[in-house]
Amino acid sequence: MEHRPDNVETGIANMDSMLGGGIPTRSQVLIAGGPGTGKTLLAFEILYRAAVNGTPCAFITLDERSENVLKNVKSTFTALKEVDKLVEKGMIVVQGEDSALKISANTESETSYSLGNLVSDAEAIVKSNNAKIAVIDSLSFLKLMLGTSILFNKMVASLVSNMRRLGVTAIFTTDIPYYSRKKIKFSQELLLFDGLLALYNFDSSDKPKLEMEVIKMRGSNHYRKLSHYEITQAGITLE
Ligand SMILES: Nc1ncnc2c1ncn2[C@@H]1O[C@H](COP(=O)(O)OP(=O)(O)OP(=O)(O)O)[C@@H](O)[C@H]1O
Ligand SMILES: [Mg+2]
Repeated sequence: MEHRPDNVETGIANMDSMLGGGIPTRSQVLIAGGPGTGKTLLAFEILYRAAVNGTPCAFITLDERSENVLKNVKSTFTALKEVDKLVEKGMIVVQGEDSALKISANTESETSYSLGNLVSDAEAIVKSNNAKIAVIDSLSFLKLMLGTSILFNKMVASLVSNMRRLGVTAIFTTDIPYYSRKKIKFSQELLLFDGLLALYNFDSSDKPKLEMEVIKMRGSNHYRKLSHYEITQAGITLE
């Protein structure tokens, strides 16, 4: 595998090779996948492995309450023993549900909380522990609140450009609704991202199977193939 010191290595076996040496530092990457494909778990595991190696990280949760994120991660990844310790030490900050609540209460007006405040809340969370890697989980929540509108596109663009300005490597998640891999349509806002990792519930003959592929990763010579993965107690494992 190409070793690129300027990359964020996921530390997940075979994933860094798949990505062409990890995620280029300060990239804005989207994990897009079907429901329950492990988007939240994968994003958390990348932070976990970076935090174990001394990189401060932020997990901005819009979908679920912080304690639920941590509860689910710990109940699935029972072999990742340091979750609580890293959170207590402030190496992983898990926050964001308060912003999500304010958005829910304010969807009528375009000048409401949603645009500027979410961006500045996300910035404050990142700055609270000087995070170098941030997860924003998920954009689906914003789509649900704002619809597939110009407002949603502006919201995503503002979040992405502010993470870029802050110099943070950011991993966003979103769901992609589909019934077969052939029917997936990636939408316009995906142009904003430097990298796109797709997680599927089905293989190419539509049998239930977890597979992932790198659709794009600017600056990386990544694989172009489907890789089977599993969600295990020791983390995501990739063929
Ligand atoms: N111990 C386990 N072993 C294997 N798979 C598990 C285990 N625990 C959870 N899972 C799988 O992980 C999935 C949940 O992962 P996660 O919450 O990361 O998915 P997601 O893609 O973020 O889902 P959503 O679309 O709801 O946000 C479950 O639907 C289940 O399939
Ligand atoms: Mg999720």
